[in-house]
Amino acid sequence: MTLAEKTNITAGTGIFMGSRCNGNTGSAPRVGFPQLCLNDAANGVRQADNVTVFPDGITTGATFDKKLMYERAVAIGKEARGKGVNIWLGPTVGPIGRKPKGGRNWEGFGADPVLQAVGARETIKGIQEQGVIATIKHLVGNEQEMYRMYNPFQYAYSANIDDRTMHELYLWPFAEAVHAGVGAVMTAYNAVNGTACSQHPYLVNGLLKDELGFQGLVMTDWLAHMSGVGSALAGTDLDMPGDTQIPLFGNSYWMYELTRSALNGSVPMERLNDMATRIVATWYKMGQDSEDYPRPNFDTNTRNREGPLHPGAWPNSASGVVNEFVPVQADHDVVARQVAQDAITMLKNNDNLLPLSASRSIKVFGTAAQVNPDGPNACPDRNCNKGTLGQGWGSGTVDYEYLDDPIGALKSRASNVTFYNTDSYPSNAQVGADDVAIVFITSDAGENSYTVEGNHGDRDASRLSAWHNGDKLVKDVANKYSNVIVVAQTVGPLTFEQWHDMPSVKTILIAHLPGQEAGDSLANVVFGDASPCGHLPYSITFKEEDMPESVTKLIDYALFNQPQDTYSERLYIDYRWLNKEGIKARYAFGHGLSYTNFSYTDVAIEKVTQLDTLPPPRKPKGPVLDYSQAIPNYTEAVKPAGFSTVWRYIYPWLSESDAKKAAADAESKSYPYPAGYNDDQKPGPRAGGGQGGNPALWDVAYTLSVRVTNTGQTHSGKASVQAYLQFPDGIPYDTPVIQLRDFEKTAELAPGESETVELTLTRKDLSVWDVEIQDWVVPAVDGAYKVWIGAASDDLGTVCNVDALQCESGVSGTV
Ligand SMILES: *[C@@H]1O[C@H](CO)[C@@H](O)[C@H](O)[C@H]1NC(C)=O
Ligand SMILES: *[C@@H]1O[C@H](CO)[C@@H](O)[C@H](O)[C@H]1NC(C)=O
Ligand SMILES: *[C@@H]1O[C@H](CO)[C@@H](O)[C@H](O)[C@H]1NC(C)=O
Ligand SMILES: *[C@@H]1O[C@H](CO)[C@@H](O)[C@H](O)[C@H]1NC(C)=O
Ligand SMILES: *[C@@H]1O[C@H](CO)[C@@H](O)[C@H](O)[C@H]1NC(C)=O
Ligand SMILES: *[C@@H]1O[C@H](CO)[C@@H](O)[C@H](O)[C@H]1NC(C)=O
Ligand SMILES: *[C@@H]1O[C@H](CO)[C@@H](O)[C@H](O)[C@H]1NC(C)=O
Repeated sequence: MTLAEKTNITAGTGIFMGSRCNGNTGSAPRVGFPQLCLNDAANGVRQADNVTVFPDGITTGATFDKKLMYERAVAIGKEARGKGVNIWLGPTVGPIGRKPKGGRNWEGFGADPVLQAVGARETIKGIQEQGVIATIKHLVGNEQEMYRMYNPFQYAYSANIDDRTMHELYLWPFAEAVHAGVGAVMTAYNAVNGTACSQHPYLVNGLLKDELGFQGLVMTDWLAHMSGVGSALAGTDLDMPGDTQIPLFGNSYWMYELTRSALNGSVPMERLNDMATRIVATWYKMGQDSEDYPRPNFDTNTRNREGPLHPGAWPNSASGVVNEFVPVQADHDVVARQVAQDAITMLKNNDNLLPLSASRSIKVFGTAAQVNPDGPNACPDRNCNKGTLGQGWGSGTVDYEYLDDPIGALKSRASNVTFYNTDSYPSNAQVGADDVAIVFITSDAGENSYTVEGNHGDRDASRLSAWHNGDKLVKDVANKYSNVIVVAQTVGPLTFEQWHDMPSVKTILIAHLPGQEAGDSLANVVFGDASPCGHLPYSITFKEEDMPESVTKLIDYALFNQPQDTYSERLYIDYRWLNKEGIKARYAFGHGLSYTNFSYTDVAIEKVTQLDTLPPPRKPKGPVLDYSQAIPNYTEAVKPAGFSTVWRYIYPWLSESDAKKAAADAESKSYPYPAGYNDDQKPGPRAGGGQGGNPALWDVAYTLSVRVTNTGQTHSGKASVQAYLQFPDGIPYDTPVIQLRDFEKTAELAPGESETVELTLTRKDLSVWDVEIQDWVVPAVDGAYKVWIGAASDDLGTVCNVDALQCESGVSGTV
């Protein structure tokens, strides 16, 4: 590739400059390299027709089911490919869910690094097996929406994360994603330790590329690119969507400026060659050079067949066919429904109120039972909370082809359903002694680009209470009816102490964010076709203040200064905090009831690999690419005669005089690199050596097996097996009381039926990050680790002792 071809493929051509896809890169037509289509969302294909709205990440996490996580991703990958998406902008693992009110936690899988890591790994496998490049995002510390972005008047907040917390918590899912071969990484809007992530050399070059050995491409988040030379040297490979922070003027820090920076010698050619290689190699690796890889065939700005080809060039854009209406849903509703159903988390069910018989008299309350009367897509990017809440809001959303709502499904199954489509208790409600009342409540959140009912992305206004006075509705209903079921469609934890203990509130179901299959998935559980089998992917506390102030307080604006978000709670988020402080959760992480009961027996642990304190040394770093790294002739930077440009579109070319001048500058001027800058290759970090880090970190150290039996008489069900590790006493590191390390879900087990599931612990699982050694250390080889096994973080009736290789059932857990 020529210089201009290389700089063309490492940036977008400008926001809205392609009508198709949320972002489009420049191409290199001479050598057959196309514009790449980059598209949201983490639960499907955003702003496209004829696609499936899959349940969101948090819903998927609540299944605790690796197979479903994978199958959902296979379906999303097929849809993305069918629409011609090259790079799909998911999965999300950052935010991890540190702040219960954080706006985008629902795009990820839950407030635990292992749950996020497994969700990401299974998603990446499913997506990339279809040839679509997956993007793990956002690296890192985007735990709050408000003040996440730099603008000319305001610094983004700085996430101040210490090294150990970074490794053991926030970087953990990214390491797993890199190990799974993820093709792309997106950096976060915010800063880490005062430096914006898109130009953070220690974060991108150091942690991600050197230590984690990431071989793919690193892109910015949309309009988060803030510098030319700096971001290139820091390790960013792709500037999206190509504009400076003030878009639509045809200005960029890269493209023509990166061409200039290469010609004038400020960005070494080996850096540009590396950037271009990472992009082209990832495209080849997924097989996208194949003839049958579809070209983009949908438009993110209009549903009309024809429209502007470059909406950002309005009113000067040419027009053409932009939507080809390629249907890609196939039978993906099946897996979407299964995920939504298996995520439904039953928190309580007094007197076995559920399942209901279809002949019961049912009174339904709450506007969330029915689809938004204006249509499920009435609000762009779902930036309102009206009717059934199937997704959060913002760029992580998909347009509905349909939304199967709960009221439709309940009415089609039961003969005597009355719906009061209101969020305040209706004066005309009929109360029968035997009635079952189902109350639908919601809590929404999303991206900071929209404010919804006073919530700026984060739940800053609603906090953890139900929206639309939902708590009052539940109380009013519970005062009248004696059998009340609460169904919550929610982005995350709620507090519900106002009504939780009212005797008539017998049942609580968390439906999370079910996507398009909100109806039958719920009805199947309510009427007992399936037992609920979801588990909480976060803890529900009695009150918000049960979590530390560093996570409950949202970071505020700081005039002329950078707001500081300091992770002073360190490793202790969610259940790790509650356990450390001895605070009882209302419902603990991992909790979820079934219509049946399960026993966990015949538990065994086996040693697979003998560990040492430190992993075996890594292999030395390989050589750099064997390319000519000479600065090319300036003529490679000049636009060919006769090429006609689109207004405000971003191109890689310079004028001939600028190109000549840049080449001359290489001889006469030098760039003011910061003190200490040099481009000598350093030996690789000791914790590195493969994709994800030292390959030995993934050695299986122990396997555990447990026989799960459905001990009930009447209902089948799926059981969740969760394994939490407790480090030995007396080690020189403070560690959380217990940490989730693996989980499995059984198949549907009939009464009396059993299944043996296997869980694994890797070397990394048994290690802590030692900040001085800068490596993963097993603090007590063959020591008194305990592996707690059960159905929730506070329901761990079985323990295996790593030192004795013996397990015991019928114990009471440590928390
Ligand atoms: C850069 O990309 C644009 C858009 O695809 C294309 O028209 C142009 O020819 C490309 N330039 C080079 C140098 O290949
Ligand atoms: C952030 O600063 C802390 C404290 O100095 C340090 O431990 C950590 O490594 C830094 N992380 C990054 C990514 O700069
Ligand atoms: C080279 O060009 C870049 C981009 O315009 C500029 O930031 C840098 O200062 C230039 N370097 C020199 C040595 O002129
Ligand atoms: C889905 O595709 C069909 C043609 O296959 C088209 O008629 C319909 O309008 C599309 N749906 C949407 C929402 O655009
Ligand atoms: C529906 O339930 C009500 C009690 O709320 C009862 O009076 C009525 O007879 C039932 N109707 C049918 C068709 O079963
Ligand atoms: C499950 O076991 C508990 C405790 O033994 C018991 O109270 C409950 O009724 C059982 N539930 C079912 C559905 O069998
Ligand atoms: C650059 O290319 C032009 C046109 O081919 C040629 O005239 C010139 O000598 C070249 N410059 C160098 C330094 O090679």
